[in-house]
Amino acid sequence: MQRVVVVTGGFGTLGRAVGRVFSENGWKVALLDKAPAPDDANAAQLNAAWWRGGVELADLDAAQSAMAAAVEQLGKLDAVVNVAGGFRWETLADGSLDTWDLMYQMNVRTAATASKAALDYLADGARGGRIVNIGAGAALKAGMGMGAYTASKSGVMRLTEALAEELKDRSITVNAILPGIIDTPQNRKDMPDADFSRWVRPEEIANVILFLASDAASGVTGALIPVTGRN
Ligand SMILES: NC(=O)c1ccc[n+]([C@@H]2O[C@H](COP(=O)([O-])OP(=O)(O)OC[C@H]3O[C@@H](n4cnc5c(N)ncnc54)[C@H](OP(=O)(O)O)[C@@H]3O)[C@@H](O)[C@H]2O)c1
Repeated sequence: MQRVVVVTGGFGTLGRAVGRVFSENGWKVALLDKAPAPDDANAAQLNAAWWRGGVELADLDAAQSAMAAAVEQLGKLDAVVNVAGGFRWETLADGSLDTWDLMYQMNVRTAATASKAALDYLADGARGGRIVNIGAGAALKAGMGMGAYTASKSGVMRLTEALAEELKDRSITVNAILPGIIDTPQNRKDMPDADFSRWVRPEEIANVILFLASDAASGVTGALIPVTGRN
């Protein structure tokens, strides 16, 4: 029977790559995002069986109703990949304290709400369900201007560890990827002089997530896995 994954942030660069890699490997894919669905959205272009835009995942009610709709459409839930998130670079002196709240909402709270919403449905028992979060390699030691972002990604990493312990008896694994700089159009625009070939490609991250979602990874939980290309 085809396995079902919900990918949050599914219209973004990494989210799309995750949807594509899971689809190519026989999964049924649902995408959720705050961004509106692309104008030209169709199943082939999005590599998804179902999708919904305009979902504010920091809001628990919105997350729960979107997750319920995904399960109703696709029949069950085997894995959730929490890709939704965002980045701001800002010093404390020149920045706004609101950025700290924004980063918390975008990165920690979206992962917590989507995971909580998924707990009612995730497969447990012999096969076990899967949650994969996206932390950041940069959160292992913050650089200048990176306080709000890395604090929030550290929160994602601690959420991953705590939830992994909480869900051990349900055989649901919870792990996080810690990407380095990803080769995205936005990063190419922001850092035009960088050597893009050293950055990790979205598909390389998606392949590790696919492994974590597979039966072969049943023994891995609470892991924070750097996937950094040649950074
Ligand atoms: N790019 C990098 O170099 C890098 C490095 C390390 C970690 N990461 C992490 O990897 C993930 C994906 O990055 P990406 O480059 O693919 O980003 P992206 O293209 O901006 O995609 C992220 C998606 O998440 C959505 N989103 C943000 N806040 C949301 C919310 N509250 N509710 C629902 N959806 C929300 C965004 O919608 P809107 O566009 O409407 O906000 C966007 O569609 C993020 O968690 C990011 O922090 C990225």
